[in-house]
Amino acid sequence: MMRTAIVSLFPELVDAFLSAGVLGRAVRDGRLECARINPRDYAQDARQTVDDRPFGGGAGMVMMVEPLGEAVRQARSTVPDGAPVVFLSPQGERFDHRIADELAALDGFVLVAARYEGVDERFVATHVDRELSIGDYVISGGELAALVVLDAVARLLPGVVGNPNSITSESHVDGLLDYPQYTRPETHTAGRTPEVLLSGDHGAVARWRRRQALGRTWLRRPDLLLDRELGEDDRALLASYMRDTAKAG
Ligand SMILES: C[S@@+](CC[C@H](N)C(=O)[O-])C[C@H]1O[C@@H](n2cnc3c(N)ncnc32)[C@H](O)[C@@H]1O
Repeated sequence: MMRTAIVSLFPELVDAFLSAGVLGRAVRDGRLECARINPRDYAQDARQTVDDRPFGGGAGMVMMVEPLGEAVRQARSTVPDGAPVVFLSPQGERFDHRIADELAALDGFVLVAARYEGVDERFVATHVDRELSIGDYVISGGELAALVVLDAVARLLPGVVGNPNSITSESHVDGLLDYPQYTRPETHTAGRTPEVLLSGDHGAVARWRRRQALGRTWLRRPDLLLDRELGEDDRALLASYMRDTAKAG
């Protein structure tokens, strides 16, 4: 069982995702726990204030250290000792499959989602172990980012995705993009299903898929191949894909 917590001013946004689909099943099956902690519950005044104007002026509001810090202390008490506190921020390290794998190996972690213009820097200095970004753009709040991280991690936990093979062949898992998929009908005005997929020859299907995965990665994300040492078989498959692409082009 992985024990996590999300600190957020909008726990209802998180609830919606935790009750449906793969995340919902992980929670129902007891493989994942996710406490929701609202910093507003730890505000120190009757109006439950969690934000204030930035010192030095400027646009928007900033989340205050204390309610957020207290919410994180509370969140820590719901996860295993030593579990890291991860702050979602466009200034963080870019989240990817490697980091999802690292987090999936832990017993738990706390995700902190901010709102407004962000948080008082002293909160980051005193309560945060790691900052993660979901990409080079700004969204209005950290909830979506926290859920992106939680969903990607939950998929990697044993038993969460019904068929474990569906995880191992997915894009980015072994550093390649996934191969194209087809389902019924075999023939459609949009085209025919590649013959090999209907052949029943598992070896031929596996080779075709590997060749497609390598070829697609080369076409769409050549950067993923840069630091990668391809084996002899992969090199031959990719070379034949490149030759066919050159002929077709
Ligand atoms: C409107 S943003 C504030 C951005 C902040 N002023 C900055 O430029 O770094 C509010 C919150 O949404 C979350 N957020 C926004 N973009 C994000 C991203 N790309 N990755 C992760 N979290 C993000 C963070 O929790 C952030 O504090």
